[in-house]
Order: sequence, then structure tokens, then C-alpha cells
Amino acid sequence: MQVELAKESGFCFGVRRALQMATETLKNRPAGTVYCLGPLIHNPQEVARLAEAGLKVVETIEQIESGTVVLRSHGVTPEVVEAAGVRGIEVVDATCPLVKRVQELAARLACEGYHVLIVGDGKHPEVQALLGHCPRAEVVSDEADLEDASLRVKVGLVAQTTESPIKLRRIVSAVLHRAAPEVRVFNTICEATIGRREAARELAARADVMIVLGGRNSANTTALAEICRSEGARTLHLETTDEAKAADFAGCRLVGVTAGASTPDWVIRRLVEFVESLPAEPESA
Ligand code: F3S
Repeated sequence: MQVELAKESGFCFGVRRALQMATETLKNRPAGTVYCLGPLIHNPQEVARLAEAGLKVVETIEQIESGTVVLRSHGVTPEVVEAAGVRGIEVVDATCPLVKRVQELAARLACEGYHVLIVGDGKHPEVQALLGHCPRAEVVSDEADLEDASLRVKVGLVAQTTESPIKLRRIVSAVLHRAAPEVRVFNTICEATIGRREAARELAARADVMIVLGGRNSANTTALAEICRSEGARTLHLETTDEAKAADFAGCRLVGVTAGASTPDWVIRRLVEFVESLPAEPESA
């Protein structure tokens, strides 16, 4: 049995950067004074490790009396940064620079008079933060959402960084069908998202079973699992190696492994080691 890791998988640049910033901050500030608004990344194992290192997770800035808040890679609304300033709370901004770019583009489009559409999931923290930077924008999660949208003359589109390129294309095409005279599209889907999906698709087409590692609360990991299933591969979405059973790999010649952008290297390594440690199956007669 052979184990193959997708050419691109695991931590993306933005998540790695946020973790490094949080780790540095925890080292250099008094114990018990460093906070994060919501889990720093969508991976329960890594969040537990950070909690052990002293990172406190709160839901709102009002829950912090003093100290330092690390902003996660999804970003926050301008109001949160303002409120931190008013309360004298130090801000360590770990917003991914690619997410910041989307915030700036959406705000600029709105200033220039465009009716801004955000292609994405309105419940995702990145989109919620983005709406704070462009309050009049509308979130479009599929073509049906466009039916109620009153598209004005100038329409500007941006996408959640982890959105599917296929969906973005579908929605752009639907907007064009609505005959908006001017449509400006910024393809803000991040390269890391596209690379991980393409690598997963390529491997899933060859593998007997695909293991997709990552938090069940991670949208990009769930999307990877869906892509692998759409290639016809038997697909297991696992958070850790503890959930894997030897029987899952019976009769497999090629086990493909991929992982979401918030999945730590050690989680991936453990799974690969587990599969490699399984006893060889007897050759069939
Ligand atoms: Fe940034 Fe892309 Fe990761 S936007 S947080 S590098 S998925």
C-alpha cells in the first residue's frame, strides 16, 4: 500500500503567519493577557494547543478588560479595531494580507459607486468582517440570491478567498445575464485555495481512498472532501488519526492524503505514519 500526500495541502501562508504571530505574542506578553476573538484557526487540535500555551478565546472585544488581542486571519470589522483602541487593548493584526486586499477592494468599489456583491457564505467570519468594511454590500451564495438583488448600473464583485472558482464563474455569468451595463469582477479567490483543490482533485482521481484531514468546522476542508467525492474516490474526512481504522484501508493500493489550510503538519504526519505502519495484506491467489 502506497501513501501519497497531495502536492499542496495543509497550512496556507495566512494561517501559518497568524500562528507565528500568536506564538510570538504569547512569548512576549505576561501570562493570561493574550486573547483572540473566536478560535484563531478552524482546527480544534491546534486551538487546544494554543489554549495550553495561554491564548484565551473570547467572543467579543467587550469581554476583554486589558491586554492584547490577536486578530485572526479572517479579519475583523473596523468597529472591532476601534473598540479595542477605545479600551486601550493592544491589537496584533494577523489578518491575512490577501483577506485585507479583498476588504480594500470592496471598500474602493463602494466608494466608486459600484453595487458590491460578495460571492461567499454570509455566515463565514471572513465575509462577516468584510461586510464591516463595505456595509452596503450584498452577499450572494448562489444564483438564486441574485433574484432579489436590485442590481444597479455598476456592479462590482469580489469573492470570499476560499470560494469555489466554478461558483464565482456561475454567479458572474448570472449577473451578466441580468444585463447590468457595467460589471467589474475581482477574482479574489486565493491561490492557496485553488492549488489545494486542484491537487486534491488530481490525487482523488487516482487514489483508492482519500483521507481529508481538518476541522469539521473548516469550510475549506469540507470543500476538499466534496471535491474528492466528486472524483468518485471513497473519501473520509477525519480530524485526527485517532478516527482512522485499519479496516478503512483494506484492499487499497493507493491512499491519497490531503488537508485543509488550517491543518497542522503534525496531524498530517501522524496519519501518514499510521497508514505506513499497517501490516501488508497477503497477496490474493
Ligand atoms: Fe490567506 Fe488564502 Fe490562507 S486568503 S488565510 S492564504 S486560504
